[in-house]
Amino acid sequence: MLYDDLFVSLERARWNLSRDIDWDAMRPELLTPAWRFDVREVCLTELSALYATEMFLRDFYSDIDFCSFISIWFYEEMKHHLVLRKYLERAGEHIDEAELPRLRLTFAEGPAIETLTMHFCGEQRLAHWYTAFSASAPEPVLRQIFRTLAADELRHATAYAKYLRKAVANKPAVLPQILRMSLWMLRTSNDNPKHPTTLTEPSVVSLLEDPHYLRRMLNAYLPGRDHEAPVQRRVLALMSELAGRQIRSLRELGSSIREADRAVASAA
Ligand SMILES: [Fe+2]
Ligand SMILES: [Fe+2]
Repeated sequence: MLYDDLFVSLERARWNLSRDIDWDAMRPELLTPAWRFDVREVCLTELSALYATEMFLRDFYSDIDFCSFISIWFYEEMKHHLVLRKYLERAGEHIDEAELPRLRLTFAEGPAIETLTMHFCGEQRLAHWYTAFSASAPEPVLRQIFRTLAADELRHATAYAKYLRKAVANKPAVLPQILRMSLWMLRTSNDNPKHPTTLTEPSVVSLLEDPHYLRRMLNAYLPGRDHEAPVQRRVLALMSELAGRQIRSLRELGSSIREADRAVASAA
């Protein structure tokens, strides 16, 4: 089970909420009202790990390895929600527990392999966003927190990549679905950013006070169309590995999908 090694490696990399965040260095007076509002929205978006976990345990019912890993993922994502909530509290902002059930969602059932691919791409993208938020945040501890969360999200992407490799090794016929979903995920924009929290109807983000907060943050802190290049590079690197050929662009990804479709059809 991949879970065994992931448990050890993620435990080794884990940061401590009380000790590793430099709470004493906080200077809340540097926080603008816009940042206070946006951090609150990010904090509530992280709570979606709860609804996603429910979905994972349901849709990956017989995959004991993956469900075991989700126990770690759930813990770490809830910690993201918690560290941001603690940060906001220290800055004088409080999230009322009574308002949280209103944000609760149940995700519709979907093909497990597509969900896995979507989350792999989503973690890569979120790491990229958090890195940008860390660079732009006006307050030093908030910068540290976003940097810390970005590193976690990248590690999560690495774990999802391991499960995608395992899925293809067990059943090569899933490759076209993985390639197709990653192409769809890579076709994104700041005005319509694709992430598991934005894609469903309703989506996690659509239930927030400002459903356009991500769009606003991305246009402010990641302007320009080409900022996605690192995300694309990392996703295409895994797709190249899975497909057994070099894929350097979305166009090449498209032709790899057709080739993988043909390979599956002739194997059948
Ligand atoms: Fe997170
Ligand atoms: Fe994550």
